[in-house]
Amino acid sequence: MDINNKVIVITGAARGLGFAMAEYLADKGAKIALVDIDIESVTHAASTITDAKGYSCNVANEAEVEALFNQIKEDYSRIDGLVNNAGILRDGLLVKYRDGEISKMSLEQFQSVIDVNLSGVFLCGREAASHMIESGNGGVIVNISSISRAGNFGQTNYSAAKAGVVAMTTAWAQELAKFNIRTGAIAPGFIETEMTAQMPQKAYDMAAQMSPLKRMGTPYEIAQAVSFIFENDFLSGRVIEVDGATRI
Ligand SMILES: NC(=O)c1ccc[n+]([C@@H]2O[C@H](COP(=O)([O-])OP(=O)(O)OC[C@H]3O[C@@H](n4cnc5c(N)ncnc54)[C@H](O)[C@@H]3O)[C@@H](O)[C@H]2O)c1
Repeated sequence: MDINNKVIVITGAARGLGFAMAEYLADKGAKIALVDIDIESVTHAASTITDAKGYSCNVANEAEVEALFNQIKEDYSRIDGLVNNAGILRDGLLVKYRDGEISKMSLEQFQSVIDVNLSGVFLCGREAASHMIESGNGGVIVNISSISRAGNFGQTNYSAAKAGVVAMTTAWAQELAKFNIRTGAIAPGFIETEMTAQMPQKAYDMAAQMSPLKRMGTPYEIAQAVSFIFENDFLSGRVIEVDGATRI
């Protein structure tokens, strides 16, 4: 796909990886719909990018997601691309045992991450695909997974969601190819954003050292990989690992 003049929706775009993707794709001439639950930040973020609009939406809310895509279609008359990037962390052990006491990960803690990181991807992917099929122009859907999709200590909820995101990427590649819609996923390693900045200092320092390159990745490096998926017309249904050879 030639990115120039295409309408690309990016969720979780107020900051971090999503914002870097917005800047990168806008530089290649795309019109960007930046979507985030944080309306103030996304409005400000959009104002710093040429040919961009900010939209408020909780990707885990079906009615909000349906209204969002209808609004974007109304504003731009077409939707060519989607990056499902919005995500949250609510780390914790499945069962914690200390001094004879058991404490369990609550269903709410598990479900909150599944709602945003998995159901949110499902809802936005479904709405984007519907609009792309209706327009008959094809399109590209990119889902942001994680190195944690293989299963990671303290991340039952996050790992499950991020593995599911890759499975959906493959399923959609099979179902949507006949409409000229491609999909792709990216599994980033540890990247310098506000999300990783929340990690305790010791864990943050260790994470950087886990790559043989001895550093974290940058949002720009993930944005480059997103752009590659958009531009390479024979790439579909696969996950690209951008993790500096880190293994967790
Ligand atoms: N930073 C990393 O090291 C890393 C590694 C692997 C994967 N990822 C994934 O990349 C994506 C972006 O990560 P980041 O580091 O930029 O995170 P971030 O926390 O810096 O930004 C996430 C953005 O998503 C928004 N958001 C959260 N919940 C939302 C919801 N329900 N609806 C709409 N927007 C919502 C937030 O407001 C925020 O602006 C996430 O899916 C994350 O899981 C990040």
